[in-house]
Amino acid sequence: MILSGKARVAGVIGWPVAHSRSPRLHGYWLERHGIDGAYIPMAVPPGRLEQALRALPALGLRGVNVTLPHKEGTLAACDNVDSLARRIGAVNTVVVCDNGELSGFNTDAFGLIENLRQRSAWRATDGPAVILGAGGAARAACVALLDAGVGSIRIVNRTRQRAADLADAMSGPCAAVAWAEREEALEGAALVVNTTSLGMAGQPPLDLRLDSLPLKATVYDIVYVPLETRLLAGARARGNAVVDGLGMLLHQARPGFEAWFGTPVEVDEGLRDFLLQDLSNA
Ligand code: ATR
Repeated sequence: MILSGKARVAGVIGWPVAHSRSPRLHGYWLERHGIDGAYIPMAVPPGRLEQALRALPALGLRGVNVTLPHKEGTLAACDNVDSLARRIGAVNTVVVCDNGELSGFNTDAFGLIENLRQRSAWRATDGPAVILGAGGAARAACVALLDAGVGSIRIVNRTRQRAADLADAMSGPCAAVAWAEREEALEGAALVVNTTSLGMAGQPPLDLRLDSLPLKATVYDIVYVPLETRLLAGARARGNAVVDGLGMLLHQARPGFEAWFGTPVEVDEGLRDFLLQDLSNA
């Protein structure tokens, strides 16, 4: 793509940033829609985040995505932070306003729920949800499910105190469950979401027997390398609906793209295939 002098520029800030799939993803949409714009990786080391963010308006950049380890620091550095991002405790999308202020958003909860809705028949009223994990991704999942109207959430985590802290921080019907009781926690559940790193390439598999999970429940793994984790393969084999994590990565990118480049975008099979080619080469 040859840029004009009026090209809109955005990007992703992370450390490291080389593994980020976002340039490929946004590049696909830019090319598909023939937009005069660019989306670039920016390696920003810890200690230089504030400086990097403050440079965005001065350089005329439209905004950035923010990935590890900068999501919490960006929340502190933004001039305005959206209420959802505050509840999640992290910012993953920054929009530079016309007056030069930085507005911070978190689109992970949006990405999680949009993916779930696009790829399953799950409805919030189907019954209780079980979230495995209590880190940043679990927090986004909790906020997403509460806002979608889920009536009861069981948060299961290896470190029980973190689950209890997350349940306390959410003003909603959330309860902490000990890791040893994870299989009992599946009884009567309509949705299970794995937000732990277990099952990811290079990590141990998630050790979870699904015997007590109703067959009509949906099993969602936010891991996307591999696309079909052992959890999803086991769930699919016994007849549960399954949702992989790739769509969450794709959908969470939509609001930023739309804000920076002014064009609405969709997640379709073509985009999934395009990202999958990259993941299979990794
Ligand atoms: P993120 O912010 O990406 O969610 P995180 O804060 O590191 O990442 O959280 C990772 C999650 O995976 C945590 O819930 C962690 O459990 P702890 O809170 O007990 O650390 C969970 N996790 C990681 N390795 C695990 C393991 N071997 N067994 C069980 N849970 C594990």
